[in-house]
Amino acid sequence: MTIIKEAIEVLNNGELVAIPTETVYGLAAPINNVKSLEKIFALKERPFFDPLIIHVTNIKQAKELTTSWSQVVDSLTEKFWPGPLTIVLPKSDTVNDIITAGLDSVGLRCPNHPLALELLNELNIPLAAPSANKFKKTSPTSVEHVRSEFGEDLFILDGGSCEIGIESTVIGVFSDRIDIYRPGMITKVEIQKVVDIPVNLAESPVSPGQLKHHYMPAIPLIIYQNKDILIKNLKDQYQLDLNQSTEMILNSDPNIAARELYSSLREISSTKARAITLKKPELINEKWEAIWNRLEKAASSIV
Ligand code: TXA
Ligand code: MG
Repeated sequence: MTIIKEAIEVLNNGELVAIPTETVYGLAAPINNVKSLEKIFALKERPFFDPLIIHVTNIKQAKELTTSWSQVVDSLTEKFWPGPLTIVLPKSDTVNDIITAGLDSVGLRCPNHPLALELLNELNIPLAAPSANKFKKTSPTSVEHVRSEFGEDLFILDGGSCEIGIESTVIGVFSDRIDIYRPGMITKVEIQKVVDIPVNLAESPVSPGQLKHHYMPAIPLIIYQNKDILIKNLKDQYQLDLNQSTEMILNSDPNIAARELYSSLREISSTKARAITLKKPELINEKWEAIWNRLEKAASSIV
């Protein structure tokens, strides 16, 4: 039996499957199986107010899940799908309320990973999938990460390490504007190039999942600008000396920095270090802004 057939059998038996995507691994269930969808929330310890995004294999599948597919959405999907862009649109009746947390909108994304696409194709039912980590914790970018979150029992489709490394850009599309709910490696400038309505960062978190503390590693991450202030903060707030912490180094290329971000956080957390320190990167472009969005939420202190 091929690995894809095996994964389909697991899904048909009502169990969850961890799927590789180009961003991070997802914890997937078919959108028509309520019991399996409930298992996602239970296993992740995710509150029911936080909606799931739906992964589709093509535009035809996506169109069935929304009541509003406009020219703008056509332009966006033509340019960015398959890829790390989640598009929030008014939901159709086929989408169960458990997926959208009772909202009347749904997040749709076509992932750019051959195994995910093959699974979606063969199954022929879209998959709801959040990132495959416990609620608020660091997203997984490898099979080992998913294993360490959920143990041996979970079926994981091994697609290697994730190329992009941080979660997709999430946007809400309206008739007169596009709001960015979660920044990502597809940037505002890139989106603006393909549409003729204004694109802006949403001011308050519209995504119920955009909590202040999120993506948190197992030990505190302390981001600093000034070393002396860092040393004082470590002592006062954490009763630690500098040599009990490990400095995280981000690659100067944001594409590589994003790819390595979550595995670095996990790697340092698994050592004897009691804290992770990081010199605040300069936010010289939108890709760094997206990385900063994750860092800010992962940090216990920014000093
Ligand atoms: O890259 C990704 O998007 C990964 C991979 C697995 O596809 N998935 C992911 O899912 O990051 P999750 O559940 O960890 O994050 C999805 C975000 C959450 O912040 C959620 O609140 C938001 O999207 N979201 C989902 N549906 C929404 C909706 N209808 N309106 C506003 N925000 C929504
Ligand atoms: Mg997540």
